[in-house]
Amino acid sequence: MKILVTGGAGYIGSHTVLALAEAGHDVEVVDNFVNSSAESIRRVEKLSGVKIPLHELDLRDEPGITALLDGAGFDSVIHFAGLKAVGESVRQPLDYYGNNLEGTLALVRAMQAAGTRQLVFSSSATVYGDRAPVPYTEEFEPLDSTNPYGRTKAMTEQILVDLAAADPSWRIALLRYFNPVGAHPSGEIGEDPNGIPNNLTPFIAQVAVGRLESLTVFGDDYDTADGTCERDYIHVLDLVDGHVAALEYLAEHPVGARAWNLGTGTGTSVLQVIRAFEKAAGVPVPYVVGPRRAGDLPVNYADATRAREELGWVATRGIEEMCADLWRWQSQNPQGFKG
Ligand code: NAD
Ligand code: UD1
Repeated sequence: MKILVTGGAGYIGSHTVLALAEAGHDVEVVDNFVNSSAESIRRVEKLSGVKIPLHELDLRDEPGITALLDGAGFDSVIHFAGLKAVGESVRQPLDYYGNNLEGTLALVRAMQAAGTRQLVFSSSATVYGDRAPVPYTEEFEPLDSTNPYGRTKAMTEQILVDLAAADPSWRIALLRYFNPVGAHPSGEIGEDPNGIPNNLTPFIAQVAVGRLESLTVFGDDYDTADGTCERDYIHVLDLVDGHVAALEYLAEHPVGARAWNLGTGTGTSVLQVIRAFEKAAGVPVPYVVGPRRAGDLPVNYADATRAREELGWVATRGIEEMCADLWRWQSQNPQGFKG
């Protein structure tokens, strides 16, 4: 298949590009490097031995993305490009609505003009908001979120559902990721957040490598087994396998737009993640317990039944493998791609 990957230089995108290139697909990347660098793709080329055409372009440049797709014969697009920091989205909502919605609209209009009708979209478990019962199932409605970032995901899903309803030639997978963590086992590519990480596992890795002094556990008085929040952490390579399974499914099934959860189906607490990381890395992770973080839910995890039954996909990698791979990446690249 010939596949365009938007945001392919980013964390999940670079791992996906590697897997697609290794599987023999013809892959190209478009990225504006707002949260990444071309170094990730250079490393993907080194690992795969395949040259990856890399187009530096902002998706909101509609003539640019239209020209890129026009006559190029892409069978599918995997759309990772977007801004993703929850706190920043609260402070700068227009940047998030502008980038994530306008970028997607320009992309799908360009796809329509080019006759490319197969799309895999990066959605998020955040679209279940704070009212869905756990475990989250795809049937839950209405989609909403507690923050502007999450609302761009819920709104984009709605736009894509409406598009597929209006024109049944579209085949669109809405993949709702739970908490992607870990890295490629080579240690060559991984997550490289700008500034101080917001998310738990990059924060832990930066404490372990000595870039940060100690972790703050956001609350240990939740109604959970050990008092800390539980999340559904999923290895980035399992997530990648989910994208490949979705592409294969779309090629065979005219489904319109359909959502699938990509999670393991189990919750792991903050303290369990710290212990798993210490064991996998053999390095202590100093932490203090602080107050709860506003907006955090005690527990969430996926019901992953639909992906298993329809896509034939299940996550297979456990929390220790996620931590071991994360640590290999972080310890070999203490400053990320800049180091
Ligand atoms: P990332 O920031 O590493 O990758 C996103 C990439 O998109 C970056 O390379 C960035 O430079 C690029 N980009 C952003 N806006 C662009 C634009 N207008 N034009 C061109 N390129 C643009 O993030 P990630 O963790 O790899 O996430 C990929 C996708 O998955 C995002 O849409 C994100 O919202 C979604 N997602 C991520 C998580 C997570 O925890 N990482 C969870 C759920 C959903
Ligand atoms: C967060 C976002 C979610 C987004 C996801 C992307 C919030 C409220 N939610 O999810 O919308 O889709 O990232 O990956 O921001 N924790 C600590 N100390 C830290 C960091 C985190 O104790 O320094 C805890 C949190 O309280 C949480 C768990 O670790 O219980 C995971 O946190 P995080 O990695 O930020 O993910 P989510 O909050 O699940």
